[in-house]
Amino acid sequence: MDNFLPEADALPKHIGIIMDGNGRWAKKRGLPRKLGHREGAKVFKKCVDDCIDLQLQCVTFYAFSTENAKRPQDEVSALIKLFDEYLDDIRKMNDKNVRLRFLGELSFFPEKTRMKMFDAENATKNNTGLQCSLALNYGGRSEIIHAVQNLMANDCGSVQLTEETFGKYLYTSGLPDVDLIIRTGGEKRISNFLLWQAAYAEYIFTDVLWCDFGKSDLEAAIREFSERNRRFGKI
Ligand code: FPP
Repeated sequence: MDNFLPEADALPKHIGIIMDGNGRWAKKRGLPRKLGHREGAKVFKKCVDDCIDLQLQCVTFYAFSTENAKRPQDEVSALIKLFDEYLDDIRKMNDKNVRLRFLGELSFFPEKTRMKMFDAENATKNNTGLQCSLALNYGGRSEIIHAVQNLMANDCGSVQLTEETFGKYLYTSGLPDVDLIIRTGGEKRISNFLLWQAAYAEYIFTDVLWCDFGKSDLEAAIREFSERNRRFGKI
């Protein structure tokens, strides 16, 4: 039963993926770290196709954290270049009926890259297939602060504050809570990713480095998720 996959209603509604291990993948091969990220970008694109194949509804990739922004300029520039190149290829996402979103403090990026993000969100906003989000210059704590600032500046006093209404001020507004988070690369921490949205997520940590992560690893994670007993605090 190794390739059994659960029925559609038992699939996770929203998967978050922490793509870790590109640097180590490159180091093992005597390559510069930025070539690890370049390989990681290829694996990211393949993973989006795998999500479509598996008929998943929603996936969010952690591609660049607020903390990653403090890495050496050379590595940061290489990552921005990869995002920028990817954004030149949005027609493919439209052909695949993918809706793209960018979550994070995007003012960090050069204006031309930001414009491409804006155009990509606009061009794909009516697509009804996979909802694919990229967390870029993203941090869960700063997202919550940004949401509170937004609420105070615009709707303070006029909104009945509940968990549901607060969610509308987050970058992920309109997306379901994340119910499965996969982290590659062997580390077992959440690194400031989707702190609010992952309140009841299941976590799967794998030693596989992101550049080696394939469809069978994604399927294995989904199988493990479907076998977990989720009680949401009840008995
Ligand atoms: C963490 O591995 C990974 C990152 C900081 C960057 C992730 C980015 C990609 C996979 C490219 C995505 C591309 C597009 C187009 C969305 P690490 O560098 O910390 O690895 P290490 O722990 O082995 O050093």
